Amino acid sequence: MQLVPDDAVIVVFGGNGDLARRKLLPAFWDLHLAGLMPERWVVIGTSRSDMPDEQYGDLARAGIEEFGRGVDDEDAFAEFASHLRYRGGGFGPDDPSRVRDAVAEAEAEIGGEPTRLFYLAVPPATFGPITEGIGTCGLDQRARVVFEKPFGTDPDSFAALDETVRSVLAEEQIYRIDHFLGKEALQNVLALRFANGMFEPVWNRQHIDHIQIDVPETIGIGSRAAFYEETGAMRDMVVSHLFQVLSVIALEPPVSLDSDPLMDEKRKVFESMAPVSPDDVVYGQYRSYRSSEGVAPDSDTETFAAMKVEIDNWRWSGVPIYLRTGKAMAEKRQTVTLAFKRPPRQMFVGRGVDERSRDHLTLEMAGDQGFAISFLAKRPGPRLELGPASMRFSYEESFFSRDGGDPVSRIDAYERLLHDALLGDRTLFTRADGIGRTWELVEPILRHRPEVHLYHDGSWGPDAADALIAPRGWHLPEDHAH
Ligand code: BG6
Repeated sequence: MQLVPDDAVIVVFGGNGDLARRKLLPAFWDLHLAGLMPERWVVIGTSRSDMPDEQYGDLARAGIEEFGRGVDDEDAFAEFASHLRYRGGGFGPDDPSRVRDAVAEAEAEIGGEPTRLFYLAVPPATFGPITEGIGTCGLDQRARVVFEKPFGTDPDSFAALDETVRSVLAEEQIYRIDHFLGKEALQNVLALRFANGMFEPVWNRQHIDHIQIDVPETIGIGSRAAFYEETGAMRDMVVSHLFQVLSVIALEPPVSLDSDPLMDEKRKVFESMAPVSPDDVVYGQYRSYRSSEGVAPDSDTETFAAMKVEIDNWRWSGVPIYLRTGKAMAEKRQTVTLAFKRPPRQMFVGRGVDERSRDHLTLEMAGDQGFAISFLAKRPGPRLELGPASMRFSYEESFFSRDGGDPVSRIDAYERLLHDALLGDRTLFTRADGIGRTWELVEPILRHRPEVHLYHDGSWGPDAADALIAPRGWHLPEDHAH
């Protein structure tokens, strides 16, 4: 299998923005250290404001030190920084010249016909004009274009963007990224389900009572007010990351692990879902949000969303699926819980078990990724009393600590997906038909925005979210788990 991509010129739109500093530049550094960058490559960061190339190197270093693995080898960093360029001045259908010239210079330096990889780390409204600019100046040849999420902001803008993008690029040039799909623990769901005999037989409505996909975050919106005020939790997290996670959890066995069969199965999951009713959605906003810099003092943007959805097919009919995510919450977790049905007869109630106790399978997609099975076990001692017990698979324990931290196996979600894009592998990217359907699913909520409840910073969100899941309870925090 090819690991070192062909030579490439990489252009990052939004090159000095939050995503570039937090994820993309640290990702290039990690890929460089792991020997997974092409033999010859150049990264050109671009945005409206200008800065010299050396300053871009400093910006990359600051991002790597704050959000990545840091710099402990100065020579290696100097070599890395020599691949970085920066061009300001904006870009669009009318004025693509500075970026076009920078690409031409980089290509002359590299020689041959390198891949052109464009990464659009910019607000969704600029995707269309930038794509047109790429077309206008002929940069679409040999090009792959990575679009950050959200791809569109509602069904109409999705359709318009899709049309513009397709007027410039062929489908195999389009990489719609959702970095949750690059997370090891989520990719592992396919292995868990389809490489073992143990899990798939119980992965259905006969055995599962309900599913929770829970992604609380402790961070607030930081310096992202401009993006977040327009986007909100629903578009930023739910219709993208949480729905994509759901599609992997719920899909039917694909005929093969190739890109199209997998994407077909994900699309069928979305097709089997009914549009979400505003009555099944709770929106929240953390109390200090409106005093954040750049946020309107009367902002109604939701920083929290919880909802109930169902998949009406043979496997999942009648199994409620609860999604929850929010900023400024009590813990950072990315957890999927499949809660098993209780046995038909409750013999142990009163013996350390309440009638809400049940066994679970829990996937962790953040921190020490892996999964756990939690169940009830007999406590040691003379009495027949039960207590909670669990068995856990951790990537750290089972793989990383054994291979001594091999940098190739440690690449994170963004690194994996950037590397895939450089290799031309779209398996872990999303397809337009799937995304189009997700916008249809949330259209009722976009039209009839649910009321926004305030919640305390550092809490688990508004009480209304507990009412949404009742009589069940949120699995997190674990000490309240049922
Ligand atoms: C991004 C969202 O896509 O994902 C952010 O825009 C969110 O709001 C982030 O914080 C979560 O990323 P991670 O690295 O914690 O999976």
